[in-house]
Amino acid sequence: MIDKIKEYIGEAEAFTTENKEELEAFRIKFLSKKGILNEFFAEFKSVPNDQKKEFGQVINALKTAAEDKVKGIVELLESREEAKGVFGDLTRSAEPVIIGSRHPISIVKNQIIDIFANIGFNVSEGPEIEDDWHNFTALNLPEYHPARDMQDTFFIQTNPDVLLRTHTSSVQVRYMENNKPPIRTISPGRVFRNEAISSRSHCIFHQVEGLYIDKDVSFADLKQTLLYFTKEMFGKSKIRLRPSYFPFTEPSAEIDIYWGLKTETDYRITKGTGWLEIGGCGMVDPNVLKNCDINPDEYNGFAFGVGVERIAMLLYQIGDIRMFYENDVRFLEQFKASI
Ligand code: DAH
Repeated sequence: MIDKIKEYIGEAEAFTTENKEELEAFRIKFLSKKGILNEFFAEFKSVPNDQKKEFGQVINALKTAAEDKVKGIVELLESREEAKGVFGDLTRSAEPVIIGSRHPISIVKNQIIDIFANIGFNVSEGPEIEDDWHNFTALNLPEYHPARDMQDTFFIQTNPDVLLRTHTSSVQVRYMENNKPPIRTISPGRVFRNEAISSRSHCIFHQVEGLYIDKDVSFADLKQTLLYFTKEMFGKSKIRLRPSYFPFTEPSAEIDIYWGLKTETDYRITKGTGWLEIGGCGMVDPNVLKNCDINPDEYNGFAFGVGVERIAMLLYQIGDIRMFYENDVRFLEQFKASI
């Protein structure tokens, strides 16, 4: 019997597991009420007197071996779980995770969204393939209106009512058709113009449209909103509102920002003036409100549209707009650190 116990001591000492169920099975086998140890203790009475001493010693050794083993493994498993909780998986590999970079247009677009979100503007979107009503007619540009020529439009050949939107102002109309004032929304998106491609203009680009409709809105509100935006975006707020014409606003203005002429790229982007036109703005024409079922005697508001590429070019000193669409990884990788 003593040999049998010694065998069990060997088994207990050699036992190893990382699994709680296996550990419990081991404990039951050796240490439970009906376990091996208790069985041997019960045999003690019948052991001849001259062997009792040795029998007692080996059975105690088995008890210690089994108990120490259980305690050791429990501690190990618990410490692992704790470490996991605090530090995550400590067994994971230390290989760095290669992350991609956001496109500079997305970075700037998200910044614009954040800046306007801080003063209560939500984000709205509309389709890139538009109909005549939303892109033109509802915006006070009826058929044959000469101002339609300002925007060289890509039409779908088989159906002149379907076109690629030339501006995100179309989302204004959609938003007003579906929401009642007060309205504070910005609509970022891609737009298309049938224009010659050069370092300063492209047939695809991005705009962010802004729309504010409420009671008693003034041009001063528009100007303050634009000042706030340029201050947040560029850290400076020297802007110029040049009187202009858009069919959907009255009065209308072009928004120029003074950037300065520190670098060659500044010269190139601003045509040597230090000023860059970043978009248009104005007080929403009452006809547009009417077209969207909003009573112009009760409500008024302002709207603006800014070009995302222009802003990104200034901020990141990109001298050629075509860089945005060529997907050259050497260009794109430079934006890894930006969020
Ligand atoms: N839609 C104009 C464009 O694409 C920009 C613009 C001008 C938007 C005045 C507006 C606005 O909302 O009020 O050139």
